[in-house]
Amino acid sequence: MSQYGRRPTPWAGRVGRSVAACVLGLCMTAASASPPQQDRSELKPGTATPTIRKKDPVPTYARDVAPIVQAKCQNCHRRHQVGPFPLETYEQARKRAADIAAVTEERSMPPWKPTRGIGPRLKHDQSLTHAELAILAAWAEGGAPLGDIKEMPTPPKYAEGWKLGPPDLILEPTEAFPVSASGPDVYRCFVLPTNLRRDGFLEAIDYAPGDRGVVHHLIAYMDTTGRARILDDAAAGPGYPTTSGPMIEADELSFWMAGSEAHRLPDGIGIHLQAQADIVLQIHYHPNGRAALDRTRVGLYFSKKPVKQAMHWNNATNYRFRLPAGKNNIEVKANWFVPVDLEALAVCPHMHSLGHDMQMSVKLPSGKTRTLIEIADWDPSWQGSYYFHDRIPLPAGSVVQVVSHYDNSAHPRNPSHPPRNVEVGPNADDEMCVGYIAVVKKGQDLTMPGSRDDLYQTFVRQRERQMRRAMSR
Ligand code: HEC
Repeated sequence: MSQYGRRPTPWAGRVGRSVAACVLGLCMTAASASPPQQDRSELKPGTATPTIRKKDPVPTYARDVAPIVQAKCQNCHRRHQVGPFPLETYEQARKRAADIAAVTEERSMPPWKPTRGIGPRLKHDQSLTHAELAILAAWAEGGAPLGDIKEMPTPPKYAEGWKLGPPDLILEPTEAFPVSASGPDVYRCFVLPTNLRRDGFLEAIDYAPGDRGVVHHLIAYMDTTGRARILDDAAAGPGYPTTSGPMIEADELSFWMAGSEAHRLPDGIGIHLQAQADIVLQIHYHPNGRAALDRTRVGLYFSKKPVKQAMHWNNATNYRFRLPAGKNNIEVKANWFVPVDLEALAVCPHMHSLGHDMQMSVKLPSGKTRTLIEIADWDPSWQGSYYFHDRIPLPAGSVVQVVSHYDNSAHPRNPSHPPRNVEVGPNADDEMCVGYIAVVKKGQDLTMPGSRDDLYQTFVRQRERQMRRAMSR
């Protein structure tokens, strides 16, 4: 159960998926509530519906369940990881068979939030297929048998340390940060000087949390102004407190959450790291019952191949909305007008605790709209960044659109009891509506003499104009 508790909204659970889809104007899938919708990706001609029928033999742990648990659960549910208990042995899984069936059926575990089958194919998809769900349910119902241990798959070997191999540069805060055993979640920024004398490109960024039990998610930013250092110097202890973001204008470099898979960017694409930049690491700590000391390290992997395109995150953000106390199903929208021809590589939806669902799409200049992602059952504890399998064209003049819904009625996740009117702001009890999107400039070739990476500046200028307009309204 997440620290925010499950909300007793009429939308919760499986039925919620289709109601939320209706809210989003996708009612053509409404009939999918029960029985569950078959994923389009699994709909191949001649494929039988992968549900377990009564006369089928009961699945066994050794043959059927262990491979699923290894592939989809153990990256968090093993010793010293973020999951609250290990699922590494038969006995550990047997004890919790009913819970496992329940949390997977309602899709709260694994915490992969994008709706299956909506939007383009995603990399590193952690969600369970309907066949896997059916196996877990039938196994629990059938008494959770072990089966023949000869069929047991060999336990996977987890690389200790860095999954992509030793980084080219490791940065870490000068001191460990104490996280208390209980109390509210803590957001903290750490300033890590790179001291690099020249600009460079990164093909990957990975993180080694000092204490995986408390590091819930983090965002790395790049600061070239020195302003983060000033905030750091002014605050007591390592780093400085934050409620959201680095509290300064800074280029987002990467997002990570517990369970994320480190990966390299495709060849020819890099993250631009400027000379003498500071990396600002914003960490979300979730106290877990024992006092912890964390010193999270950042591993930088420089691009080994020539980089033609620089990846930057931008966003569609609504800077001004109000959520009246007691109301639910409040719609908030945000748009971002694409200024030059781009290609999208990833998205990362962001709201706080009152968020209920979010959909990101792109309206192309032709008038056609293409969905990028849908999170039908938002959970602030599981904020992922999701990479597309193939690049998505965003021609100049396209509009990246965010439509989200908020629930400001009384529910366990609402930080205010009783609910109060909520506006946009950085604090945990304020709200935000941001659809981050990672892009490259179409056709950019930074290896050509004279070409330079000006995309971030283009976005900053556009954002400043937008802010000025919003303020003068
Ligand atoms: C990305 C990390 C991650 C993955 C992957 C993951 N879990 Fe979890 N799981 C957690 C965390 C963290 C919790 C503690 C509750 C929370 O914070 O939501 C949890 C809680 C649970 C619980 C207790 C739920 C409750 O309501 O108390 C069960 C059961 C569970 N997980 C089963 C699974 C199974 C089965 C899988 C694979 C199919 C899985 N988890 C995959 C991180 C993960």
